[in-house]
Amino acid sequence: MLSVNFTPFPVITTPRLLLRKTTPDDVNELYYLRSSEVVMKDIDRPRPKSKEDIQQLIEKIQNMIANNEGIEWAITLVGDHTFIGTISFHRLIKEHYRAEVGYLLHPAHHRKGIMSEALKAVVAYGFNNMGLHSIEAQVTPGNIASEKLLETHGFVREGYFKENHLKNGNFIDTAIYSLINKGE
Ligand SMILES: CC(C)(COP(=O)(O)OP(=O)(O)OC[C@H]1O[C@@H](n2cnc3c(N)ncnc32)[C@H](O)[C@@H]1OP(=O)(O)O)[C@@H](O)C(=O)NCCC(=O)NCCS
Repeated sequence: MLSVNFTPFPVITTPRLLLRKTTPDDVNELYYLRSSEVVMKDIDRPRPKSKEDIQQLIEKIQNMIANNEGIEWAITLVGDHTFIGTISFHRLIKEHYRAEVGYLLHPAHHRKGIMSEALKAVVAYGFNNMGLHSIEAQVTPGNIASEKLLETHGFVREGYFKENHLKNGNFIDTAIYSLINKGE
């Protein structure tokens, strides 16, 4: 069984980014992201009704990390602590050494290779530090940015479920991507 320990929190740096723990100070930025229809278009999570919902979400994220049930990094630019996005292993399947990755980025920073840089670092952390064997991503077909990002990083579309997800009264499809740790 996979055993992980996210304490102390594993801060990750890349040439342009610092991935750190989300704190209650990030409430405004996370509220913006989670309320943005551009960002949330293909993500079926309830939209926050107030900043209190986000405060509760941050608490939930912190508990998840403290209990080693999953991990989420706040994405910031080096030298600027402002929160511009998140990347997470929000579903850990410890018995199968597998995790699901998810990510959100502020639209002002789209298409600058930011998530590519974050994903590369987080995949390396997942394989080399956590000991994952595989990483999964679930994508709504047509989310070209996410599909392209995953394919660039070697993820393969292994599955496709037709109308498996009820969203706003419509049954929609899900594509399942996966990357296997080849130990290279
Ligand atoms: C998905 C998302 C995180 C991508 O972040 P990003 O930092 O803009 O992506 P990058 O700049 O690193 O681009 C990665 C690749 O995707 C391509 N890409 C990104 N956005 C694209 C778009 N809108 N259309 C076509 N290609 C796109 C880039 O050209 C790049 O391709 P390359 O590797 O061949 O150069 C961002 O669009 C986002 O936050 N979307 C809303 C949230 C979301 O849908 N999350 C995923 C749920 S599964």
